[in-house]
Amino acid sequence: MSHPVPVLTIDGPSGAGKGTVSRIVAGRLGWHYLDSGALYRAVGVAASWADLDLADPSALVRCTFDTRIEFQDGPEGLRVLVNGTDATSELRLETAGAVASAIAAIPEVREALKERQRAFRQPPGLVADGRDMGTVIFPDATAKVFLTASADERAQRRYKQLKEKGVSVTLDGLLREILARDARDAQRTVAPLKPAEDAVLIDTTGLGIDEVVERVLAQVPKHA
Ligand code: DC
Repeated sequence: MSHPVPVLTIDGPSGAGKGTVSRIVAGRLGWHYLDSGALYRAVGVAASWADLDLADPSALVRCTFDTRIEFQDGPEGLRVLVNGTDATSELRLETAGAVASAIAAIPEVREALKERQRAFRQPPGLVADGRDMGTVIFPDATAKVFLTASADERAQRRYKQLKEKGVSVTLDGLLREILARDARDAQRTVAPLKPAEDAVLIDTTGLGIDEVVERVLAQVPKHA
C-alpha cells in the first residue's frame, strides 16, 4: 500500500539550489518542509558546544540522540533552535557545514536521524531536502528530483550569498571546498551522494530560480 502522505524529495550536492528551491516549492504546494542538512548541522553545532571529539563516534551518536532540534517559523524565515538556543546563524557558517559533513559520514549518526526525518511526513505533504532523501529516507516518495549544477556555478552562487551576508571569502577557496566536499560525499560508503534510480535529474546551471521551481513542480502529480 502506498503511504497516504505524499513526499517530494529534492536531492543533490551543496550549492545546487536545493534549499531555496525546496522552500519555494513547499510554499507553492502548501506542504511541510524538511531541511535535513540543518539536522546534521544542528548535531554538529551541539557537538562543538559540548567540545566533543569529532574522532569519537560513540560520543557523537549519544549527542545525536540527546540534541533537541526545533524548527520555528518566524517573520525572517525558519529559525532553528538547538537545545533551546537559537543557532540559525551559526548553522549557516562554513565551519558548521564542515563539522556536519564529518559527522554525516558516521553510519550510527545517520541511523539515529532516520526516524526523526521520517516524522516530518505529515499531511498534507512534505518536501524533503537533502542528499539521501529519495534513496534512503523516503525511497517510496511520490516524486523525486536530483538537482545538479556545475561546480563553478555552485561556487559562484555561494560566493554571492556569502558576500551579501558580509562574509569574506574567495571564489577560488570556495571552489576548492566544494570540489573537496563533493569528492568526500560521493566516495563515502555511507549514503554516498547519488541520484535515486527513479529520480528526475535537473541541471540548474544557467537556469533562474523560477524556471527550476516550475520544472520541479511539474514532477508532482496533480492529485498527490
Ligand atoms: O545541505 P547542507 O550543506 O546543509 O548539509 C550539511 C552537511 O550534512 C553536508 O556536508 C552533507 C550532510 N548531509 C547529509 O549527509 N545528508 C543529508 N540528508 C543532508 C546533509
